[in-house]
Amino acid sequence: MAQQIAVLRGWHPALAMAELAALLPSHNPTISESNRLAKLEGELSPSKAFETLSISSGCQAILLNGFIHNWQNDESILLEKVEKYLQNNHREGKMAVVPLRIEGKLSQFSSSQIAGKIGGMMSRMGWEIDLSNPNNRFSVTIDGSSSQIACGWMVGDESGSEGVANRKATQRPFFKPVSLSPRLALLAVNLAAGPIGNGPVIDAMTGTGGFILEAAATNRQALGIDLNSQMVEGSNQNLNWLLKQQKISESSAKIVRGDATNIAASIDKSWVGQVRGFVLDPPYGRNSQGSLNHNDLLTKTLTSAHQVASNKANLVLIVPIDSMPAQINSALDNNSQVDLLHGDWDSLQQLMKTSGWQIKNRWIEHVHGSLSRLVIHSEYVPLN
Ligand SMILES: C[S@@+](CC[C@H](N)C(=O)[O-])C[C@H]1O[C@@H](n2cnc3c(N)ncnc32)[C@H](O)[C@@H]1O
Repeated sequence: MAQQIAVLRGWHPALAMAELAALLPSHNPTISESNRLAKLEGELSPSKAFETLSISSGCQAILLNGFIHNWQNDESILLEKVEKYLQNNHREGKMAVVPLRIEGKLSQFSSSQIAGKIGGMMSRMGWEIDLSNPNNRFSVTIDGSSSQIACGWMVGDESGSEGVANRKATQRPFFKPVSLSPRLALLAVNLAAGPIGNGPVIDAMTGTGGFILEAAATNRQALGIDLNSQMVEGSNQNLNWLLKQQKISESSAKIVRGDATNIAASIDKSWVGQVRGFVLDPPYGRNSQGSLNHNDLLTKTLTSAHQVASNKANLVLIVPIDSMPAQINSALDNNSQVDLLHGDWDSLQQLMKTSGWQIKNRWIEHVHGSLSRLVIHSEYVPLN
């Protein structure tokens, strides 16, 4: 059966893996022996791979029909596998061989020498090599930390640049310290809403608009809501700035003033029961709804999301926690306790359950010395 290899970015491979599973659910992504290389089942067209990479936060490249080799100082075996691959996966046009090092180094392995040998192999097969303007790039992706080498025709970015991470919330016209980083915001939108075309996504506490900007940039139907009119004005300024910057002439993304505890009042009737994704980053300190305590505000917001959700909806909730060591290669264990800045984990778990959101997974994102974030991925369950 055909297999594709996805190369995950180093920022948070475990979150990147979850994002990939949300964007390509029918390909059943699984992690390999390398934390940065995921396997996808079944055929994947170059255009679908390109489309996925163009909206993904955590995935850097996809190697089509690729394979993973466990390096044991066995260059000749690797080259034999590459030769067989090239014979079975013919391409037209000009070729380049692209070494991509994602983690550490391999002993007795020189990526430039291997690239040269594969280039020689291609020339002997009668293929034209053009490193500056190739039609096809064959990648040798090296993970020294797990001794894995992934090979295949590459779709995506070999520059090693962190893609969406190059964009900073501070570059926008309206910035507040609460603004989420674009890479986390985009990842959360994808995790919550899944493939493009699934249905609308809502951020009921939009602040400076971090999630909605990413939803707009990836051409999703999206609505941001905030109770504070200064935030609504500022996030709309950000949205217009982004659309102009990215030359997006038509976008259905909107930001309006409204109350997260009554989402139904802010949305078009046709969205009721259709909303596929919710992203939620509740206020850190005293909230704008001064009369409600943190847990009551959250319970009412989650309940109001449930009332308009599709029964296939997912919700990503991001809450601040005391700083924890970075844990980027796996989700938290079910029983792991975390110290929330507001309230305690058991109450949060309980209130999500009673408002119809079943927790699927949790991850820690380290922010700085005194702050981490808990990213909670949940799915709709009917309420009796
Ligand atoms: C932590 S901030 C969101 C930050 C946002 N993710 C960003 O990237 O800028 C929380 C926001 O929730 C808003 N908020 C608080 N209570 C609300 C309510 N009941 N309805 C809607 N928005 C509310 C606050 O005005 C604030 O802008």
